[in-house]
Amino acid sequence: NEIKIFCPATIANLSCGFDVLGLCLDNVGDEMIIKKSTTKGIRITKIVGADLPLETEQNVAGVAALALIEAVEAKLGPITIGFDIEIYKNIKAGSGIGSSAASAAGAVFGINALLESPFEIKDLVQFAMQGEKLACGNAHADNVAPALLGGFTLVRSYTPLDIIKIESPSELYATVVHPQIELKTSDARSVLKQNVSLKSAIMQWGNVGGLIAGLYTQDYDLIGRSLHDEIVEPIRSVLIPGFDLIKQTALENGALGSGISGSGPSIFALSKGAATAQKIAKAMSAVYEEMNLPYEIHVSKV
Ligand code: HSE
Repeated sequence: NEIKIFCPATIANLSCGFDVLGLCLDNVGDEMIIKKSTTKGIRITKIVGADLPLETEQNVAGVAALALIEAVEAKLGPITIGFDIEIYKNIKAGSGIGSSAASAAGAVFGINALLESPFEIKDLVQFAMQGEKLACGNAHADNVAPALLGGFTLVRSYTPLDIIKIESPSELYATVVHPQIELKTSDARSVLKQNVSLKSAIMQWGNVGGLIAGLYTQDYDLIGRSLHDEIVEPIRSVLIPGFDLIKQTALENGALGSGISGSGPSIFALSKGAATAQKIAKAMSAVYEEMNLPYEIHVSKV
């Protein structure tokens, strides 16, 4: 009658894959407890660790849950029970590692499980996306998909929604540093240009293809060569303190590639092997310590 869920943080975009690529950080995340109730409806009963709205319609977990319930009722008929949701936040809002996605994904995953899985996990992405829409005005799926499915995911298409789970090599690690400033996804999206040149687009889709090929063939060099972003990073990176230096430091310490995590300000680096990922973490930390900028850092197996 109740479920406790780990709601993982995620890295979206991965340089070349704006709004389509993402990966799950399986050791960084929130917790959520969802309880069945005899009273119909969705209630957010408790939020610990963040100042977020308790009103269901104003809460990303709440709206994602409502979208799921509506679809379940359309499929199976009216539901007479309700759900009480407790959210324990560890992922800071505006950190760039999918804080809203973790809550939205956790809510739909938990309620679906308590209802004995009327939907497959992949089909839950569309409901979790409603939480993202509330959070930043855009229903992007590149955080909620990896949060729900784990590992790497690709949004091949939004209309119709087509999510692909991507294999990843056994020794791939992610290092993510979060300088302690808040960057709203809506703001980081509003600075982007609505059009890209054909020249930039050619480079970008070449890199997306290269990255996917590299992941499948365990070709770490190819993964590294493909981790470039011609379109979004040049515009957003100016919003992130020390971005160029952190990225350069990561590359000098053996990263395959480095870029903005989601809409920032977190910065990620991918590397081969745990030792390199830890070395990068140490070097990135030294940069922010030198700058006297508070930060959090995580190393995760991909
Ligand atoms: N793809 C989204 C963006 C991710 O970059 O705006 C936000 O976490």
